[in-house]
Amino acid sequence: MRTRPLKVALLGCGVVGSEVARIMTTHADDLTARIGAPVELAGVAVRRPSKVRAGIDPELVTTDATALVKRGDIDVVVEVIGGIEPARTLITTAFEHGASVVSANKALIAQDGAALHAAAEQQGRDLYYEAAVAGAIPLIRPLRESLAGDKVNRVLGIVNGTTNFILDKMDTTGAGYQEALDEATALGYAEADPTADVEGFDAAAKAAILAGIAFHTRVRLDDVYREGMTEVTAADFASAKRMGCTIKLLAICERAADGGSVTARVHPAMIPLSHPLASVREAYNAVFVEAEAAGQLMFYGPGAGGAPTASAVLGDLVAVCRNKLGEATGPGDSAYTQLPVGSMGEVVTRYHISLDVADKPGVLAQVATVFAEHGVSIDTVRQTVKDGEASLVVVTHRAPDAALSGTVEALRNLDTVRGVASIMRVEGE
Ligand code: NDP
Ligand code: HSE
Repeated sequence: MRTRPLKVALLGCGVVGSEVARIMTTHADDLTARIGAPVELAGVAVRRPSKVRAGIDPELVTTDATALVKRGDIDVVVEVIGGIEPARTLITTAFEHGASVVSANKALIAQDGAALHAAAEQQGRDLYYEAAVAGAIPLIRPLRESLAGDKVNRVLGIVNGTTNFILDKMDTTGAGYQEALDEATALGYAEADPTADVEGFDAAAKAAILAGIAFHTRVRLDDVYREGMTEVTAADFASAKRMGCTIKLLAICERAADGGSVTARVHPAMIPLSHPLASVREAYNAVFVEAEAAGQLMFYGPGAGGAPTASAVLGDLVAVCRNKLGEATGPGDSAYTQLPVGSMGEVVTRYHISLDVADKPGVLAQVATVFAEHGVSIDTVRQTVKDGEASLVVVTHRAPDAALSGTVEALRNLDTVRGVASIMRVEGE
């Protein structure tokens, strides 16, 4: 057992960072035993130094994060500031000054993961980010290490706690969108700018990271098709219920059937109540991984929040410290396949479409003809009539997304279609 401590610099001491510091202190003896050396919190960089931070020695607090990572005696930098800058420069500076890095920053890893991995490799350092995807759930390491001998074909799940919390509250308690978002923010689940959550940017960043690791290829944030959940309404939930479904914001990464390309997308979708994802409540996340030999694996657990996320950070910290002591580095980037990333139009899916139409003879036939002209097969149609106006709900069979969106466009142009009330994809069947 080495007695000289490994020194850790903590960049950020907010929802996640404060829990990282707390666990480092309260579990110090166990961490020492598991790593083979003590770990010492050597400095804590924040924006507001005068803020009272329970359990943190004020002497350790600094606003000069750059000086902290440049000290030269830091073994591991834990970056839990978030955002692109200054996090990116701090991480590369840390590599240059001898430190490995643990980060929870999905926005940065999704945008600059390749360059950061290259910088880490060049300096012989580690870059770990288990906490960046799905909070406490071990997902990056199983994909990167445990499934390294298998071929992953699909990753599908709920990867954003805030939006799952909001959708769950809207569905089960009838809460309004804003009320549920405020509660998620107060609980520490939301990003500094919650637009990242509700507009699907956070889930898209996680999808890019997952797809890249799962398919050993490069998937950029811009490659991920993204729709947020701000337009999901109580009427959508009522419609979903009538179909025996609920609504979740899903991230879906798939290898094409011919294996020659991949797709990644984030959007709200109806899923059957019988599907395991339907029972994922509050800020929990759940991810299915389908691999050729392993079959279907499900990962489930808290997807956001200070302590759950700190658990993933601490797991990485232990791994990186062990690597340091062994004068080794862990697995790095593995994007050797260079598969093209397909567009949303190529994705095969199903639509649930609500139309407001005129209640007169021939309308249903007209609508059905538009579907047929676009090669889209109808699964079910339900019509309700009130005051001379009819509402049609059409659920399709699986078809390319381009054909489905072309159908909707053509429906909008029919005189007898007063409006397209909602469109939602149906998944999980
Ligand atoms: P917070 O906003 O709660 O904390 C951010 C911390 O960074 C604060 O301590 C803040 O200082 C500090 N900070 C901000 N800017 C600077 C700067 N320029 N220099 C030094 N310190 C700075 O964020 P979270 O803890 O929620 O999130 C941190 C990271 O973890 C993000 O990347 C987020 O995406 C990720 N994450 C968060 C999860 C969650 O559930 N919250 C879950 C998974 C990942 P001060 O305290 O003075 O304001
Ligand atoms: N804002 C993120 C979420 C935090 O709600 O999932 C966890 O990554």
